[in-house]
Amino acid sequence: MSGTAGPVAAERWFGDWFGGRPEQTWVAPGRANLIGEHTDYNQGWVLPFALDLGVTVAAGRRGDGMLAIRSRQAPGAPADLPLAALAPGAVTGWAAYPAGVAWALREDGHPLAGGASLAVDSDLPEGAGLSSSAALECAAALALDGLHGLDLPRPRLATLAQRAENDFVGVPSGIMDQSASLLSRAGHALLLDCRTGATADVPLDPAAAGLALLIVDTGARHALGDGRYAQRRRECERAAALLGVSSLRDVSSPAEADSLDDPVLRRRARHVVTENGRVKQAVALLTGGDLAGVGALLYASHASLRDDFEVSWPEADVAVDAAMAAGALGARMMGGGFGGSALALVPAGQRAVSAAITAEFAGRGWPPPAFFPALPSAGASRLRPGDGDGTGRG
Ligand code: GLA
Repeated sequence: MSGTAGPVAAERWFGDWFGGRPEQTWVAPGRANLIGEHTDYNQGWVLPFALDLGVTVAAGRRGDGMLAIRSRQAPGAPADLPLAALAPGAVTGWAAYPAGVAWALREDGHPLAGGASLAVDSDLPEGAGLSSSAALECAAALALDGLHGLDLPRPRLATLAQRAENDFVGVPSGIMDQSASLLSRAGHALLLDCRTGATADVPLDPAAAGLALLIVDTGARHALGDGRYAQRRRECERAAALLGVSSLRDVSSPAEADSLDDPVLRRRARHVVTENGRVKQAVALLTGGDLAGVGALLYASHASLRDDFEVSWPEADVAVDAAMAAGALGARMMGGGFGGSALALVPAGQRAVSAAITAEFAGRGWPPPAFFPALPSAGASRLRPGDGDGTGRG
């Protein structure tokens, strides 16, 4: 992480809340996804990258078997949980994510004897579709792993963080967000094969191409737990079963998807099959140094998510169309859908796209969107003592 000298002060808050200095401080970034949406739980391919915004966890061991968690973003909601009593459904709200990680580690045979104190701080907007919950899980996972000397490999920590979210929090998300947060490399996107777990770093340097990736937080808020995400998963599983494959990853051509009788399942399958194809095309273009060429794929992905997968939302459609009309090379909704952010590929240093989107929102009486540069950054890392004390980090 770099360039976010700012309000992130988990080490200082650790002292205020628990006394003394933390033993370890970890920062885990949020993610953007260049392309490959709703493909992870279909065992397909995704191409996310880590942002330079994230969640910091300053941590120390305890001796009383408690998991004590405080967050600067939830000052009125401290959590003091006996580790031995952690069980799915026992914790609600933001603390369920780090508590779920402790539970998943315990279930995996790592009881975290003595417990831990975790001080959480974040500069990542919540609910914006930038995976703040995965970042919280990953920072907590690294902190607990580090404190208790477990030394688990990062892909394993990603799986345990996903398990926390699926089985403890009860949100049926895939493996993309945790993988992006833990495994990304600066200046690259992470190609992840969600069946095999194989990864490759794919060069992604917009500035070198005279371009920029712009995140548009549409302000519309989403909740993956609201049932529509789970419904899409079930539709995909049903489509795969009807096509006689274990997952839609194994459907190689849109024509095969088109053989489904049910029009809804046909559209869902078509999205997944074409999106997997777009990921592979994007990787080929990036490997050949043609980021601009990826623009058309981004817009095709959006159209597919809007028309076939039906997870787009009005603010995203307006933002994407305004971006394209104002000179973006490509744009699309990002993440699970129904709210959150869009991503636009734009000429560097140009304000026409953000101005056009802001004007379209104003014309509809919608609150103004927020814009962030999406800088392909490094995955989670341990901060040196003092780097998380709020006086700046770099
Ligand atoms: C959310 C989930 C991910 C992934 C995306 C859609 O971000 O957490 O696992 O399924 O939606 O691509």
